Amino acid sequence: MNATPANAASAAGGGTDLSVPRHVAIIMDGNGRWAKARRLPRFAGHKQGIEAVRRTVRAAGDLGLEALTLYAFSSENWRRPASEIADLMGLLRHYIRAELDELARKGVRIRIIGDYRKFEPDLVTLLDNAVERTAGNDKLTLAIALNYGAQDELLRATRRLMREARAGEIDPDMLDDAAFEARLDTVGLPRLDLLIRTSGEQRLSNFLLWQAAYAELVFTETLWPDFDHAQLADAIAAFGRRERRYGGL
Ligand code: IPE
Ligand code: IPE
Ligand code: MG
Repeated sequence: MNATPANAASAAGGGTDLSVPRHVAIIMDGNGRWAKARRLPRFAGHKQGIEAVRRTVRAAGDLGLEALTLYAFSSENWRRPASEIADLMGLLRHYIRAELDELARKGVRIRIIGDYRKFEPDLVTLLDNAVERTAGNDKLTLAIALNYGAQDELLRATRRLMREARAGEIDPDMLDDAAFEARLDTVGLPRLDLLIRTSGEQRLSNFLLWQAAYAELVFTETLWPDFDHAQLADAIAAFGRRERRYGGL
């Protein structure tokens, strides 16, 4: 039995404005189509996509979000050509190097979700340093999903639980949603309120399958490189007009 209404009330943080989501996640899609429409190489779309990330992270802070999770590289994106994967890794390196000082100064706490340790060692070190350096910040948590797939996350959590059970550290009958969530990559993040996908596609593409259970979904035709403060504010306004019932009346 899961006391979802009580969870929902506590997720709202007692007294805080229910119409403002605490945690927004974005499937940043459409970089390739943005470039194609301009007869530019896909790289140009990814480069503009980084600009949209900069704008959106600033907007998230300005709009008072507690957490923003960005889907940057999925566990299925390895299926892309090696040259595009290298471009994406290069842009990620560039973004972290260029933005870390400002993010740290503005109180942004960086988190990584996903199996990012499969990346190049120098990139893993760069990411670990960014996480460590911003660990004490408490304004906005920016969670970047890297080599993230929800099915992979759920399998990793399940494997861990099975190992703990085998070692006698956890009683399977005592496993509840809180204990399960404590083994997910998103541990400690506020409950996901709003999930946005750009570029007109209406699918989750293996993103936050557990966490999105009662998230509100907003799909926009805007291609990710065109996303900005106004677009995020619009999605939040749409969220504010939704009636969340959690299975109740
Ligand atoms: C999103 O844009 C960026 C990543 C998935 C890394 P896409 O590269 O998927 O752009 P489209 O879907 O081809 O337009
Ligand atoms: C989802 O976009 C992954 C990211 C935004 C990182 P994709 O472009 O990879 O998703 P599909 O292939 O259209 O489902
Ligand atoms: Mg895409």
